Amino acid sequence: MSNRRRFIAGNWKMNKTIPESRSLAEKVREALDGFDAADVAVCPTFVALAAVADALRGSRIALGAQNLYWKESGAFTGEVSGPMLVAAGCKYVIVGHSERRQYFGETDESVGRRATAALACGLYPIICLGETLDERKKGVTFEVVKRQMGSAFSAIGPDAIGQVTVAYEPVWAIGTGVNATPEQAQEVHRFLRGLLADKYGAAAAETVRIQYGGSVKPDNARELLAQPDIDGALVGGASLKAEDFAAIVRSCTA
Ligand code: PGA
Repeated sequence: MSNRRRFIAGNWKMNKTIPESRSLAEKVREALDGFDAADVAVCPTFVALAAVADALRGSRIALGAQNLYWKESGAFTGEVSGPMLVAAGCKYVIVGHSERRQYFGETDESVGRRATAALACGLYPIICLGETLDERKKGVTFEVVKRQMGSAFSAIGPDAIGQVTVAYEPVWAIGTGVNATPEQAQEVHRFLRGLLADKYGAAAAETVRIQYGGSVKPDNARELLAQPDIDGALVGGASLKAEDFAAIVRSCTA
């Protein structure tokens, strides 16, 4: 187990209306009342950010968004900028989620631009990457994540590295109920930390939190989080139930 402070984030994806989001946020807040052994964030849809910010005000649970565009404002129909997210109360923003890459044409390059834009306005990006099943079967997992890391971090300097979270999310484990084994995840996490060490030095790499994502549930969280380079989780499906999400967060206790 590492001594980095754990970080659990809930990615609500395209789920929950505004009132439903508010209610889920209230339940998560209640379920985690008094808990301070890890950093926690929830990431609702854009339209629910204000309501969830309101529901979480004064709590230790932070707010995150699921994406951002790299321009500050202008004629970019349908996009939302970093400064808008900051004004809505966000601390974090997810970038490069595999669903964005798979269904919305995001590339390694656009993910890098989003990550850099997030940092420029003071947001803490959660940079997602991970191989597909096909890539794992072909034995190119390390090559793929190395390429994804290279692009995502290409414009991130050493001063900003402390603001970044990496989320390793093997595509084959997302929403499938088949999580990576703790050993499979640890192997990639260690490799990613090595890449960070090559670029930013070992000391800086030791401070970066690397979350695992992909079918994290209350019953597998503890053993995943026990791995030396797994510093938290990005939780999809299980974050939509307050009790399950709270149980995952609580598995962060020493
Ligand atoms: P899941 O999603 O927990 O439902 O597998 C994780 C994610 O996509 O971030």
